[in-house]
Parts: sequence; structure tokens; C-alpha cells
Amino acid sequence: MKKTAEQTPNFDMNNMLNAAAQLRQIDDLLTSSQALWRCRSFECQQLPWSQAFPHLAEAVWQLSDDSLESIDACQQRLNRALLPALAADLNAQGVQWPLALFEQSAIGAEITDSITESHPQSLLKAEDEPHFSAHIKGRKWQQINAFVAKLPYENTPVLEWCAGKGHLGRLIAKAHHREVVSLEWQQSLCEAGEQFAAKWQLPQTFICADAFAGQSEQLHTELLAVALHACGDLHVKLLQHASEAGTKQLVISPCCYHLIQAKQYQPLSRVAKSSALTLNRADLQLPLQQSVIANDKHKGYRLQEMAWRLGFDALQRKVRGCNEYLPVPAVKQSQLNGGFSDFCLWAAEAKGVILATDIDFQAYQAIGEQRQRLTRRVDLVAHLFRALLEQWLLLDRVCFLQERGYKVELSEFCSNSITPRNALIHAFK
Ligand SMILES: C[S@@+](CC[C@H](N)C(=O)[O-])C[C@H]1O[C@@H](n2cnc3c(N)ncnc32)[C@H](O)[C@@H]1O
Repeated sequence: MKKTAEQTPNFDMNNMLNAAAQLRQIDDLLTSSQALWRCRSFECQQLPWSQAFPHLAEAVWQLSDDSLESIDACQQRLNRALLPALAADLNAQGVQWPLALFEQSAIGAEITDSITESHPQSLLKAEDEPHFSAHIKGRKWQQINAFVAKLPYENTPVLEWCAGKGHLGRLIAKAHHREVVSLEWQQSLCEAGEQFAAKWQLPQTFICADAFAGQSEQLHTELLAVALHACGDLHVKLLQHASEAGTKQLVISPCCYHLIQAKQYQPLSRVAKSSALTLNRADLQLPLQQSVIANDKHKGYRLQEMAWRLGFDALQRKVRGCNEYLPVPAVKQSQLNGGFSDFCLWAAEAKGVILATDIDFQAYQAIGEQRQRLTRRVDLVAHLFRALLEQWLLLDRVCFLQERGYKVELSEFCSNSITPRNALIHAFK
């Protein structure tokens, strides 16, 4: 089931019409299916779409509680579990959706805890690598290696956007012998990066600055601008400013689409601007919601916490006479070792809810457990659409760059097990 970056075909995005047409197709599907993926699952008392999609409702309830996490962890498995029932419902409605798009966008293969698979080839001499990578965590080092392996081997100077300690820039400087400027706003990270660069005598310098300020003086034509996992607005700013400056090459891997300043997603390309979709921050988190198979103890705590929160929610709605979710602060794991009634007393105090002395906590615990089973199923169906939504967001960026005169390729730079945010946008003039 697991795919490696090598096995995953690159999307042929060289043709502008192709990307725009794909974006439009996905947009139509996402717009028609909003009822299935834009639900606030913790608010639901029943499957909110069960009347229109009875086969899907039956399919999702037939899945055992124990199987949900492993199905959710793998987009292809999720597709196999739910698409036949969705197809049956659409058939009954006399509606056609291009379900093949689900298969094409199932780029998220299984996430496992194993990082032994799909090691990108090292770019450094065997004797240098252990020292060079000593302070970089395993997966980050693998990501950086894989990212650099995808870069054109040239001597154009590089600007590393939102660099952190500049690990990516440092490997580019070392492996490609080229000048790198790393832009980062946290002084301490810049200083740490400067020390590493000096230790290895590399042509890498740091600029401690705010990426939101535009940094137009850093962006010019003869430049390769790179950004690995610059969150939300930060990588969008790079696309906007670099394309205005006519920067020759851009290679970015987007992440955290929901970290935006505006309340709603601000589409970039003409196609996305004409879409009927208005995405809020919660919607934009959907691509990031993929289960990582946790150990049983951790999984047990997570599911118990979910059930207890939902049980307390039912209780507070009754006590306050108000049918509204009341967010409760984060809990310490140790609190989950106590009883449900202690949890409710703590949550009630934290939220200023006055509880009577004769509450049937067992009944509310049972309600919480039932709502947890429901919530997980509402989420599972929404997750069917997470890869498509990510594809929509990626294609919005691709089309935006094409509209500004770039040739653009969209691919994956490493396997999903190294990071699920493995999409790579490569734009060049
Ligand atoms: C998710 S980290 C990615 C770091 C690095 N590229 C990597 O992959 O390890 C995002 C970085 O962006 C930096 N950052 C956040 N806001 C910024 C801003 N307004 N200007 C410049 N850097 C910023 C953060 O300090 C952080 O180091």
C-alpha cells in the first residue's frame, strides 16, 4: 500500500489549461459535496447527511470502532471503504460526481511510525553526514535531503524563506556550493543558524526580518526562492512578492493552510476566485486531519477524552438550557485517570457552570461515548475529501503562478510517511 516518492507519478502541470481544468473539476465536486465535509462533527446529534446518503450512513456504521483509525490513516483504504456506498447514493439520486478524482488525489498513502522506508539518497559525503545532520531530527533531515535532491543543480543564489535555523539552506549551500540567504524573524534561530554556517564555513547568511513586510529588496530575478513548510500566509506572501519581482525560480512545499490572517481563505488564481466555495479556517484544517497510528495507550486516552468532552457537553447543554457547544480547556493526561464525574466537576468549574448534586453522571458518560462514535464517523466521511481539498489548494497556487507567466510542476518530494505535507511546487520562468 505504501507509496514512495519514486513510485508516485508527477502531475503534468506544464499545460496551463490542464491545471485550470483540474482545479475547476475538483471545485465542482467539492462545491456539490459540501454537506459531507463541512460539518462541525462535535455538534452533531446524528449523521447530518444520512437522509440524502443512506448507503453511506449504513456503510460508516458497519465499520467497527477499532477499524476507524487504520482506515483513516490511509487515503486509499478510506476510498475503498466509503466510495462504493457514496456511488450507490449518487446513483439513487440520479446524480453524477467524477469519483475518479478521489483516486487521482489519493496521494496520501499510509502514515506509519517507520522512518526506515524510502530514504532519499544522501547528498553529502558519508564522513560529513553524521556531523552535519547531528542536531536535525530524523524526519526533518530526510525531508531536507529529499527537498534538496529535487532542486536544479545551478549556481543561482538562493533565498530561503522562513528558514528557522536554516537547515535546508545549509544543506543547499553545502551540497550545491551556492550562496544562500536565509530569512527568519526569530533572532535566536538566526543566531543558531549563523553559528552552524560558520562552523561549516558555508556561504550562508541570515536576515532577521518579517516575511509579511514583503522583503522586496531580497527578491529579484536571478534567484531561486525556496520555502519548506512556511505556514499558510507566509508561503502565499512569497508567491505574491516573488512573482511580482519576477524571481526566476520558486520551489515551495506548503503547509498549515489554515494559518491565515483573514477569516476566510483568499483565493489566488482566477479559477479559485470564481469558485462558490468560501473556506473558513476550520475547513482549511481538513487536509491536515489524517490519523497517525498511535500506540494503544495513547489512542485509548484520546478516545476517552473525546467521549468525556462530549458527555460534559451534553450535560452543560442541559444545565444551561442552551443548545451550544462550550469549549473546555486542555486537560492533563493524569485527569483522565480519574472518573468522569471528577472531569465534569473540573470542567464545570473552569467554565463557571453550576452543577446540581443529583446528576446522573453515568447517563451522561454513556451519551458521551455514543456521541464519540458518531463524531468519529462524521469526521471519517469528511476525511474522504481531505486529499481533494489539499489538491484544490495546491492547484490554486499552481494556477496563480501560471497566470504570472511561470511554468509549474506539482509533485511530491518525499513519501507520505516522512511527512504528509510532501507536495512540491516548482515554478520557473
Ligand atoms: C514551520 S517553521 C519552518 C522552518 C523551516 N523552513 C523548516 O522546514 O524547518 C516556520 C518558520 O517561519 C518563521 N516565521 C514565522 N513567521 C514569520 C515571519 N513573519 N517572518 C519570517 N519568518 C517567520 C518561524 O519562526 C519558523 O521558524
